[in-house]
Amino acid sequence: MIPACRLADLPRGEAHRLDTDPPVSVFHTDEGELFAIDDTCTHQDASLADGWLEGCEVECPLHASKFDLRTGAVDSPPAKLAVRTHEVVVEEGVIQVRLSAAAPNPPPCVAARLAGGPG
Ligand code: FES
Repeated sequence: MIPACRLADLPRGEAHRLDTDPPVSVFHTDEGELFAIDDTCTHQDASLADGWLEGCEVECPLHASKFDLRTGAVDSPPAKLAVRTHEVVVEEGVIQVRLSAAAPNPPPCVAARLAGGPG
């Protein structure tokens, strides 16, 4: 489990980005639910924590594809691949994230950087 932040420090409607590799973000919805997904859009190198949270979806700040926080699924292009979802629990007031063992779907520019290419 990776500690994210105190639940009291993450208001509803806000996101908190973890300094993991690849980065993960925790979203606190207006309805009070918590979700964690990979922070980087699968289309290009955009942070979904900087996007717009609406219900159980976050809209990418660059080209407006929307990701379902419950499943990671994307609704429409330009992004085509889902983001990973991660388990979230709150223990003693602290949000904890258990990272998925699935392979991430980074955008091509980030995948090249992770692979040590010119990016
Ligand atoms: S970078 Fe997210 S849709 Fe293009």
